[in-house]
This record gives sequence, structure tokens and C-alpha cells, in this order.
Amino acid sequence: MFKILEANELATNIFQMIVEAPRVADACLPGQFLIIRVDDEGERIPLTICDYNREKGTVEIVVQAIGAETYKLSKLKAGDELADVVGPLGKPSDLCEMSVEELKKKKIVFIAGGVGTAPVYPQAKYLKELGVDCDVIIGAKTKDLVILEDRFKEVCNLHITTDDGSYGRSGMVTKALQDLWDEGNKYDHCVAIGPMIMMKFVCKLTQELGIPTVVSMNPIMVDGTGMCGACRLTVGGKVQFACVDGPEFDGHKVDFDQAMNRMKLYKTEEGRLFLKAQEGDTHHGGCGNCE
Ligand SMILES: Cc1cc2nc3c(=O)[nH]c(=O)nc-3n(C[C@H](O)[C@H](O)[C@H](O)COP(=O)(O)OP(=O)(O)OC[C@H]3O[C@@H](n4cnc5c(N)ncnc54)[C@H](O)[C@@H]3O)c2cc1C
Ligand code: FES
Repeated sequence: MFKILEANELATNIFQMIVEAPRVADACLPGQFLIIRVDDEGERIPLTICDYNREKGTVEIVVQAIGAETYKLSKLKAGDELADVVGPLGKPSDLCEMSVEELKKKKIVFIAGGVGTAPVYPQAKYLKELGVDCDVIIGAKTKDLVILEDRFKEVCNLHITTDDGSYGRSGMVTKALQDLWDEGNKYDHCVAIGPMIMMKFVCKLTQELGIPTVVSMNPIMVDGTGMCGACRLTVGGKVQFACVDGPEFDGHKVDFDQAMNRMKLYKTEEGRLFLKAQEGDTHHGGCGNCE
């Protein structure tokens, strides 16, 4: 069992929790995620690691309650326990593979949409710890939904934009990026994390501006180990699985329309049958019996 040490509501329906998980905290890097089960009957919930503390043996998650399992999770308090915390899963961010010299030569911008703000935080913090400067654009529908603002201010140059103009700049993240570019910020590396539709339009713009862009894909996942095929994507014409080949990919190569359509289909039994007929065996091969 994994004890929850802190639980807070950050914004309407968005909750932050600090969980005791020393082995995960010891091994994880920015960009990786966990799969959590609230109780023995619970479904698996993939959640990005928002922060970690190796000395204290803790990991931090931020969760938006959008369905039964995330609602159950959001109701837990400090002192409660989670049945499973599995991780770290997925590959760490590309940034973790670059040398400090390489990173310092880059002008990096992160684009964070909604609850996608949480996965951006450990990457910006990682850069700050290496003495590398970065810009972060946080986009939210309204002022009330902006999260982690004070913590971001400590690690980056922060730009906030709200769809309704109630805080910071006005408009979507793509407008903020275009405005910052026009103001002379010639970025040469972009990381976009948020809803798929947001990442799709950020990639469209960064392609026009010529900024290489990494996105963190968050399709429906089941096992998180490359076995079930739920998180299948097409990237650069090749089949990839977000849980083991990602979650980060070259955003200019991701087929977002297919990924969004697949997510819709995956929600129903009929849709899953249709996908099976279309795609054949979506199995990744991780079982050791098929390749
Ligand atoms: C790698 C990864 C990292 C993630 N990180 C976070 C995070 O840090 N914080 C966070 O709040 N959420 C995150 N998510 C999304 C989160 O896992 C889902 O919101 C959660 O599994 C929904 O479970 P549920 O039972 O509450 O809702 P369900 O009843 O399963 O779903 C409720 C509604 O949300 C839709 N939905 C389910 N899964 C997803 C998904 N992956 N993306 C978009 N819509 C979905 C369903 O189709 C349905 O319409 C992440 C997902 C992935 C794959
Ligand atoms: S979640 Fe099953 S293959 Fe990725």
C-alpha cells in the first residue's frame, strides 16, 4: 500500500497529492508516468509524475476528476492509502539525454494546456537545476483553472494566457506563442503537453515557424507495458505505443487525427471491435511469445 501524505484541491476539480513511493522516487525522471489503482477493484489510472523527492521517497501527482476512477482518487485524503503505484513508466524526456552545454545553446519554450501544466513542471524544474533558462506558456480556460503558478515562477520565465482573458494574456496558447515569437523570442525547441487538440494546433504553428516540437501523448492506456495495444499511435508512418515508445514523440510526425479518432472508438466495445478489424493484432510483442 502507498500512503498519501498530502492532498489538496488546486483548482475546481483538480487535485494534487504527495504519495510515499520510495522506489519510484528513486528511479524516476521528468517525462515519465505512473499507473495507479485506488483499491483492489480499481481500474488503472495513468498519471504523469509532477514532482519527486528522492530523499523523502515521495512522488507528486496532479489529477483532474473526469470519470469514476479519478473521482474516487480525488476523494482520498492525507493518511489514506493507494492499492498500487506502478512506475516509473515510459521513457524520460529527451531533454534528460542532452548535455548542459547543448541545453544552454537552445531557446526552449514549454506549452502547457490545462492539467497538462503538471507534467511540464518537472521538466522546467530539471532545467532550472542545471542552470538552463526556459520559457513556459500556461494556457487555461479561465483564471480559476491556472495551477502551480507560484512554483513555475521559481523555475522559468512564465507567461499565462486564458481563453476568456480573465488573467494574463488573452486567447489560446497558439496566439501566445505567435505573439512571443513576433516579440523577438526565436525559440528553437518546443515541448507541448495538454489535450491532443491543443498539441495538434501547436504543432501546426511550430511547423510554420520551423521550431522542432516534442509532444507528450496521453491516449487511453490499459496495461502500460506495451502488451494490450490500447495506446497505439502512428508516428512518422510507423506504429508506436505511447506507454513504451513514448509518451514523448516528435510532434510534427504524430498523426493526431488518427489518435483522436482512435480514442473515441476505444471507448466502446463496438469501437474496439472495429479497431481490431481495421488494425489486426495491435499487440506490441512485449509478451515474448509472438516475436
Ligand atoms: C501517459 C498519461 C499521463 C496522464 N497524466 C495525467 C495527469 O497527470 N493528470 C490527469 O489528470 N490525467 C492524466 N492522464 C489522463 C488520465 O489517465 C485519465 O483522465 C483517467 O485515466 C480517466 O480515468 P477515469 O476512470 O476517471 O475516467 P474514464 O471514465 O475512464 O473516462 C472519463 C472520460 O475521460 C476520457 N478519457 C479517459 N482517458 C483519457 C485520456 N487518457 N485522455 C483523454 N481523455 C480520457 C474518457 O474517454 C471519458 O470520456 C494521463 C494519461 C496518460 C495516458
Ligand atoms: S497501454 Fe497497453 S500497449 Fe500501451
